[in-house]
Amino acid sequence: MTAEGPYPVAVTMRKPGPPLLRVRGITRHFMVSGTRIDVLHDCTFDVSRGEVVAIVGQSGSGKSTLLNVLGLLDKPSSGSYVFDGVETTPLREGRRSRLRGEGIGFVFQQFHLLERRTALANVGVPMVLGGVPVLRRRARAKELLESVGLGHRLSSQPHQLSGGEQQRVALARALSREPALILADEPTGALDAASSTMIMDQLFDQSRVRDAAVVVVTHDPKVAERADRVVELVEGRTR
Ligand SMILES: Nc1ncnc2c1ncn2[C@@H]1O[C@H](COP(=O)(O)OP(=O)(O)O)[C@@H](O)[C@H]1O
Ligand SMILES: [Mg+2]
Repeated sequence: MTAEGPYPVAVTMRKPGPPLLRVRGITRHFMVSGTRIDVLHDCTFDVSRGEVVAIVGQSGSGKSTLLNVLGLLDKPSSGSYVFDGVETTPLREGRRSRLRGEGIGFVFQQFHLLERRTALANVGVPMVLGGVPVLRRRARAKELLESVGLGHRLSSQPHQLSGGEQQRVALARALSREPALILADEPTGALDAASSTMIMDQLFDQSRVRDAAVVVVTHDPKVAERADRVVELVEGRTR
């Protein structure tokens, strides 16, 4: 960036302060018909607002398990996970789901859209759960779909959209409550190169423009290369 050029937004907007995510010594095991399977052994890292962190690792190394913990969809077996200043491990489900709804947006490889609903309705789902009134919800969903280049597909259902378009609907849905944290589990795994680039550009924009933290699980070296930081999972341990 040259002195006369525009200053990067991340520099002007990033607030100093504690990390948004503080993960310390997280472990997770599962009991499967009496046998204990240790999946996460020791995961320790921080993620700040405005930061894009890529999680990489072999298939089965525990990436999705870790992401579920970060998204408060699952509890670790031990360790500490502080999200936005709140130690989450002792919290009951009600409080966890409120934190999740208000603070975290999810994007998955398989989109997870409601099949017989329009793009507009799909984007509105988190706002329904958040009690946003119907007119505001529709206006905001329309605005979000326009921002991902789908203003002309508001009434389309998932089966009428390409994979890339469905993922853009899923991304708009993830952003509908302006989450501080966006979690993406191989969001470009089912997409062609052009759609992947578009999705990743929009994820990176969230960190720069809104100062969101983005944690993205990926196999794509190009995605990892663009991230601010890469966390590697090796047999359930972060490196
Ligand atoms: N609910 C579960 N019960 C039992 N084993 C699980 C469960 N969830 C994940 N695992 C196991 O944990 C390991 C890591 O899974 P996962 O986190 O999905 O890996 P990755 O996303 O890195 O491919 C796998 O061996 C998987 O079978
Ligand atoms: Mg996975």
